[in-house]
Amino acid sequence: MYILAIDTSCDDTSVAILKDDCLLSSVVSSQVEIHKQWGGVVPNLARMEHEKNIGPCIELAIRKSGLVGAHLHVRPTLSSGEEQGRHSGLPLHLIDAIAVTYGPGLAPALQVGVKKAKELAIEYNKPLIAVNHIEGHIFSALIKNRKGNFYTKNAGLEYPFLSLIVSGGHTEIVWVDDIGKYTILGRTLDDAAGEALDKIARLLGLGYPGGAVVEHFAKSGNRKAYDLPRPMKTKDDLNFSFSGLKTSCLYQIQKLEAELKENFKKIVPDYCASLQEAVFDILWIKLEKTLKTHKPKMITVGGGVSVNLELRRKLRRGMKDYPEIPILFSDPKFCMDNAAMIGFVGYYLYLRKKYVININSLDRKPTLSLAGCGEAFEPKK
Ligand code: KG4
Ligand code: ZN
Repeated sequence: MYILAIDTSCDDTSVAILKDDCLLSSVVSSQVEIHKQWGGVVPNLARMEHEKNIGPCIELAIRKSGLVGAHLHVRPTLSSGEEQGRHSGLPLHLIDAIAVTYGPGLAPALQVGVKKAKELAIEYNKPLIAVNHIEGHIFSALIKNRKGNFYTKNAGLEYPFLSLIVSGGHTEIVWVDDIGKYTILGRTLDDAAGEALDKIARLLGLGYPGGAVVEHFAKSGNRKAYDLPRPMKTKDDLNFSFSGLKTSCLYQIQKLEAELKENFKKIVPDYCASLQEAVFDILWIKLEKTLKTHKPKMITVGGGVSVNLELRRKLRRGMKDYPEIPILFSDPKFCMDNAAMIGFVGYYLYLRKKYVININSLDRKPTLSLAGCGEAFEPKK
């Protein structure tokens, strides 16, 4: 069966086509360059960009999937807004279901994908599957290519498993009993790990988004150069907190201001390396704490921050003491927001006939939690 999946939860317009759980095509139109000028994502700008790009992204994803013959001429541009709603000529009748992210995320952004998915489901009379964005990140290490091979080396699906989600909006340790059955064991009480990296990078004057820039500078820095706190380290629970780290950095960076101007090339790499060390230490400490009481069959790691090679090294090194538990990182192209992971989850929900009951009334849910999974649908009678 074929699934068309849409994710517009934040600042990427993304569409994917899957055949079962195998990815045929994935299109991501990034808005980073637009939001960069403002130092962060501007919700209404994101909505306008999604509205402009969603139609062309759908067309391009279908074209790249191989579902259409060469006779069909589809313009490969992502910049035109005129194509909104113009899907005649596209073989959408070949699609068996539409999957869409309905939360959590930015309301004005989510709204665009949900509206488009509803329109397509109604126009082509297809089942609509509503997917939780975090569910997508949990399973993104298990996406297969068109030949049916996992993108992630040695991947395989075995329940129950643990998932560590580290992105710009989320930092969570989730126990996964099955698709749709999640228990959040730990979560951030304030900022997410990626959000902390972004904010501290801004304090250093490094621009947006910060995570990748911090990784770049950290490569040539000394991780022991600055002493940064590890908040919640000694707390028994599995929750995270990054706002204290952010405040410590604010004071430190204010003190360093004069030096920073003089010696940017030395201070910034050292600071970035020390910052990464602090953030990733906390992630590992809490993951290891989880393993004291939980015995998962495997661990998946997803979300934008998990693309970071230093984080991967730290977690892999730590997991050497647990050789029986494989740790699966998402392929870098599925760490950031993408519709491939939404289609993957959508496929398994489709198999269970978890269709949206009333398509017209499906609404975006900006604060949707994992506990809310399944509320929008029920098995088809
Ligand atoms: O998953 P994602 O694309 O969006 C959310 O769902 O939040 O994650 C975006 C986050 C941003 O905070 C960004 O700074 C971070 O991922 N990020 C990185 C790297 N690349 C992006 N963090 C650390 N190292 C990177 N290389
Ligand atoms: Zn995300």
